[in-house]
Amino acid sequence: MQDLSAHIMDIAQNSIRANATRVEIDVDERDTLAITIRDNGEGMNEETAKRVTDPFFTSRATRRVGLGIPLLVQNAEATGGSVTIRSSPGQGTTVVALFTRSHLDCPPAGDIPGTIVLLAAANPGVEVRYRHATGKGEYSFNSTEAREFLGEVPLDDPEIVAALREMIAENIKEIQTQ
Ligand SMILES: Nc1ncnc2c1ncn2[C@@H]1O[C@H](COP(=O)(O)OP(=O)(O)O)[C@@H](O)[C@H]1O
Ligand SMILES: [Mg+2]
Repeated sequence: MQDLSAHIMDIAQNSIRANATRVEIDVDERDTLAITIRDNGEGMNEETAKRVTDPFFTSRATRRVGLGIPLLVQNAEATGGSVTIRSSPGQGTTVVALFTRSHLDCPPAGDIPGTIVLLAAANPGVEVRYRHATGKGEYSFNSTEAREFLGEVPLDDPEIVAALREMIAENIKEIQTQ
């Protein structure tokens, strides 16, 4: 089964492919685990937005079957949760996935900090914003701010990638309740 970080990577890659210059990833961990991925990319018309939850739909020519969103829907629904997609052409897309945290089938988190840093490092033209909230607190990371802070040092330097991943992981650990 895909862990949550793999879902985040999948959905954020859709945003990148839709030429987004800003991708916001929100993780809200309470009884319900809510993952929101919001972009300012090309968006979809109503018909496409409706069809993307269908496992046999993709707009890509290289592969006939799109699976990122249908898999997310399947895994969220297996926990009693759901996926909502809001999109309009020229405006962008918001995908909200809800998982019931206490459900046995709720996927493990996986390496969310590593995923965020990888997304940021691999897409220098994209502002990757990440916000993680729990009942205990909140942490946010912004790739544009990180690049400004780093100055001449490239964000995709392997040592920087490792350090940022560690930093995010430590901050998340501090706000986690269990
Ligand atoms: N954020 C997005 N912005 C614009 N179009 C999107 C977005 N996310 C998904 N889509 C559309 O939905 C289709 C299906 O997405 P997905 O299920 O992830 O499969 P795949 O990425 O393999 O095509 C994409 O091919 C694309 O046309
Ligand atoms: Mg996809």
